[in-house]
Amino acid sequence: MPLIAPSLLACNFLRLEEECKMVNESSADRFHLDVMDGRFVPNISFGIPLIEHIKSVAQKPCEVHLMIEEPEKLTEAFKKAGADILIVHIETCRNLHRNIQQIKSLGMKAGVAINPHTPARALSEIMEDIDEVCVMSVNPGFGGQKFIDHTYKKIRELKKMIHERALHIQIEIDGGVTLDNAAGIVHAGADVLVAGNTVFKASDPKNIIDQLKNI
Ligand code: DX5
Ligand code: ZN
Repeated sequence: MPLIAPSLLACNFLRLEEECKMVNESSADRFHLDVMDGRFVPNISFGIPLIEHIKSVAQKPCEVHLMIEEPEKLTEAFKKAGADILIVHIETCRNLHRNIQQIKSLGMKAGVAINPHTPARALSEIMEDIDEVCVMSVNPGFGGQKFIDHTYKKIRELKKMIHERALHIQIEIDGGVTLDNAAGIVHAGADVLVAGNTVFKASDPKNIIDQLKNI
């Protein structure tokens, strides 16, 4: 059974509290919060004040996906805002190992995200140190994009690497997850499914979360 992480990027921000309550009451496992800086990705989303508000009502762990340059400068601020899991992009970290240690020393779980063009093997020397790999199955920056099919191969490669080293890293898939492709993604080896539009644009989001969970 996969873990489900609804991405609030697709929620109705005018009804943020109700959207958070829906996630609390659903079978989802964690909140997925997408932070964008308009530099690493061509879009700006939300930041620390909003995460603080979400954290104040969230009854499940908050995972913060940082699509920002120099994430190390804000690690502590995101911890204070309420991040339980902090995900940084390999493409933005010149000292990734140091960043991971920094995240863990503050008591958060550490995730590393990789863009569609970044091969699974780029994680080879850091795998022992992280809790989660976030495989981008779209180019980061926007919700509602189409799933990129070569992601299946990358998931299988990562699963093999993790298995061979007997590690306990979760593989999370982020972008374009739907009821149609979720089974194939889980079959390839994914442990966590992020879903934005598929959940929040549905008339019965809790039911969609149940369906993803029981895929
Ligand atoms: C994209 C974000 C995703 C996004 C997913 O850059 O990282 O988390 O919200 O949205 P959907 O599920 O709609 O593709
Ligand atoms: Zn994300």
